[in-house]
Amino acid sequence: MSHLIAPSVLSADFLELGRDVEMINASEADWFHIDVMDGVFVPNISFGMPVLKAIQSKAKKPLDVHLMIVEPERYIAEFAALGSSVLTVHYEASRHLHRSLQSIRQAGMKAGVSLNPHTPVDLLADVLGDLDLVLIMSVNPGFGGQKFITNALKKIEKIASMRHSGGHDFLIEVDGGVGLNNYRSIVDAGADVLVAGNAVFASSNPLETISALKK
Ligand code: DX5
Ligand code: ZN
Repeated sequence: MSHLIAPSVLSADFLELGRDVEMINASEADWFHIDVMDGVFVPNISFGMPVLKAIQSKAKKPLDVHLMIVEPERYIAEFAALGSSVLTVHYEASRHLHRSLQSIRQAGMKAGVSLNPHTPVDLLADVLGDLDLVLIMSVNPGFGGQKFITNALKKIEKIASMRHSGGHDFLIEVDGGVGLNNYRSIVDAGADVLVAGNAVFASSNPLETISALKK
């Protein structure tokens, strides 16, 4: 499978959100990456349900929702109702991770777990059969436009080898500081899905940048 691109709407122009959603629709991108932040789990507040609902009304590609919130299990049904295809919770924010993953799947979505830069991939060993996606954070979550933490490459390689040895088939997604300068090494390490915010939306030609990230 060739890798997927998920532009992060966090870096869109919110005064022109409809235009930016149509740009992603028209592009070679595969998913919409939607960052929901609560100002508690991360030191920033992004947007919530009404904005997601507006995006969903125009989006023609799957919604990949990344929850950077405490107690994410409280909102699983709501994010399902808003049309999320993938719902990712943070390992560090989930007291009963296994139960949360089950609930996400039961609600009809793909279940993802995200790891902060300091969280070892080994901690997922006992839930690898219960998830559809592992999201490796390659920056500290909370903001777009940060620098890629290169230790993420080792984590991608390690989780890819755990997937292989255990016979699992989840996707490996990488989020933070991904751009034209480093995407090839991230894919070579084993990533299946690349999130790109700043690299896409701060470029002079977002459509061409998405296309280049797919190559
Ligand atoms: C960071 C978010 C990312 C962010 C990535 O907390 O999870 O999805 O939008 O932005 P870039 O690609 O600019 O690092
Ligand atoms: Zn994200």
